[in-house]
Amino acid sequence: MNSKRDTLFQRPRDHRDFQFDEAVAAVFPDMLRRSVPGYGMMLDGIRLIARRHVARGARVYDLGCSLGAASRAVIDGAPHADYRLIAVDNAEAMIRRCRERHRGLQPQPEWRHADIRDIEIEDASLVMLNLTLQFIPPEQRLALLRRVRAGLRPDGLFLLSEKIRFQPPAVAEEMIELHHDFKRANGYSELEIAAKREALDKVLFPETLEHHRQRLAEAGFGRVQCWFQCFNFVSLLAW
Ligand SMILES: C[S@@+](CC[C@H](N)C(=O)[O-])C[C@H]1O[C@@H](n2cnc3c(N)ncnc32)[C@H](O)[C@@H]1O
Repeated sequence: MNSKRDTLFQRPRDHRDFQFDEAVAAVFPDMLRRSVPGYGMMLDGIRLIARRHVARGARVYDLGCSLGAASRAVIDGAPHADYRLIAVDNAEAMIRRCRERHRGLQPQPEWRHADIRDIEIEDASLVMLNLTLQFIPPEQRLALLRRVRAGLRPDGLFLLSEKIRFQPPAVAEEMIELHHDFKRANGYSELEIAAKREALDKVLFPETLEHHRQRLAEAGFGRVQCWFQCFNFVSLLAW
């Protein structure tokens, strides 16, 4: 996806928490490409996963769809058009730009401006939370995952991509530094890296892989498999 270059944190901003507002939506594809190691690989994986797991007559959910990149990967990968794709985001700027960006796309997803904690999930063969759960308050995550589990068909699949944190602290520091090296290599300055980190501090809460595994088990998933990891970003499949 083409987008304007992300220069949002080049100048010290008034110390606001990170928001998915108009300014972020305008540069979002560039921001993700230069900030999330392996983001393109995650989308490639979703394309392949969709090929196997978009079942006829089923629903597919993209929860926290932003500009619809994961939905787009599903559409590109799905082997047929006999399914309903429901893509949800509660950021007005994101969903509006998403609708504009994908005008004319077939099949056309149902782009919903809503909170993923409120929507019904049912008859799904694939549910995706691609880098979204990390923005849900930790104490509300189990309830959401239980609803995902309950909304999946018996042979349905859940894809969860997250930024994670590590234990012990020495490992955590190493992984954070490698992530920052990735950003430096992609042209972000020390000031930009530090300012973005501060802005995300109160809105993005990463957890350990072990914690994710335990909660997925508690939510009713019998199997959890990590299919992708790059530094402190992972993607899991659960069923
Ligand atoms: C990092 S982005 C997700 C990226 C996207 N899934 C992709 O593959 O490109 C997180 C998105 O989740 C959305 N979000 C966060 N909390 C939400 C909620 N409670 N309900 C709906 N959307 C939410 C944000 O507005 C944002 O667009």
